[in-house]
Amino acid sequence: MKVLVTGATGFVGSHLAEQLINQNDQVFCLVRPTSNRRWLKHLPVKYIADTHPPDRPSVRAGLKEVITDMDYIYHLAGVIKAYSFEDYYRGNVQLTKDLIEAVTEAKPARLKRFLHLSTLAAAGPAESVSGINEETSCHPITDYGKTKLEAEEVLRNYFEMVPITILRPPPVYGPRDEGLLVYFQAVSYGLLPRFNHRRYVSIIYVRDLVNAMLKVVQHPRCSGGTYFVANEEPYALNTLSDIIKNAVCNSRGVCSLPLPDMLIKGLGTVFEAVSGIRGKVTIFNRQKALELTQDYWVCRTDKARKDWGLTTETPLEKGIRETAEWYRRNKWV
Ligand SMILES: NC(=O)c1ccc[n+]([C@@H]2O[C@H](COP(=O)([O-])OP(=O)(O)OC[C@H]3O[C@@H](n4cnc5c(N)ncnc54)[C@H](OP(=O)(O)O)[C@@H]3O)[C@@H](O)[C@H]2O)c1
Repeated sequence: MKVLVTGATGFVGSHLAEQLINQNDQVFCLVRPTSNRRWLKHLPVKYIADTHPPDRPSVRAGLKEVITDMDYIYHLAGVIKAYSFEDYYRGNVQLTKDLIEAVTEAKPARLKRFLHLSTLAAAGPAESVSGINEETSCHPITDYGKTKLEAEEVLRNYFEMVPITILRPPPVYGPRDEGLLVYFQAVSYGLLPRFNHRRYVSIIYVRDLVNAMLKVVQHPRCSGGTYFVANEEPYALNTLSDIIKNAVCNSRGVCSLPLPDMLIKGLGTVFEAVSGIRGKVTIFNRQKALELTQDYWVCRTDKARKDWGLTTETPLEKGIRETAEWYRRNKWV
């Protein structure tokens, strides 16, 4: 099968590209001149260069020719950290518009599915630990969530013309992830983050998410569907801290690091100011602090389990252990 992947140079996309190669697909990756291809170097993928300047990330005309031949398109490219709403908009909404317009112009006769990776952040936090489902109305609280929701809405206008499926994972963890890395690093320095005991999150291991993407595109009835994909049960953030501690420190002692909301918000402001001075976007800022101070980032996955048999097979302890081992091997912790 011929498969186009956007965002293949990133954390989730590189795992997807690896798995597609393993199943003998021909993989085409849309990359930018600035893209770091370190995770793809060992893979026989073909690159399609987006030659537009980084401030106008449109999909170039040549891409249309490539799209004509595709069996599957996985659209994972997106901006998860940025300085401004405009940056989020360009990377999440404009890029999605450009890509879907190229698809409708190319009219790929063999296209079986266009898979779009959205996020739980597009739907917003839940009001209780029982979580939200696909029927819950969306109320994103950050620029990231708002622009990912707008990208979904762009695609919904094409549901009649293109076989699109939207998946919304919660935070994804695993080898190569830089999002939860700081958590592992804090623990490796002997500091064990402690949150409000009510705080719960849904989460998914990157390989389970990749398997979910590969599975959902095989189910014809999921075309035009939007699904949450996550481990079945949410976890208390403090339980997550304990599991990370067991994976990173074994029996070594750690100090509790209480993180009241005031401190999290203060740290968000400081990180944002420092990142402004250094001219480097960091993963932590005031909006991430706002996310972290919500009690329930919890979604229910009954619909995905019923409609197309979502399974998430990696127990949290095993996934966290594999992630910690990878961080250690690569000297990230
Ligand atoms: N990681 C998570 O916890 C998580 C959770 C839920 C949903 N998601 C979604 O999963 C997708 C992948 O996330 P990730 O964690 O793998 O992110 P990542 O590591 O930051 O990778 C992002 C990818 O998108 C590409 N990209 C960004 N802006 C672009 C633009 N303007 N034009 C073209 N390509 C662009 C990047 O290319 P360059 O290499 O050129 O920068 C990179 O390949 C995103 O859509 C995200 O919203 C992630």
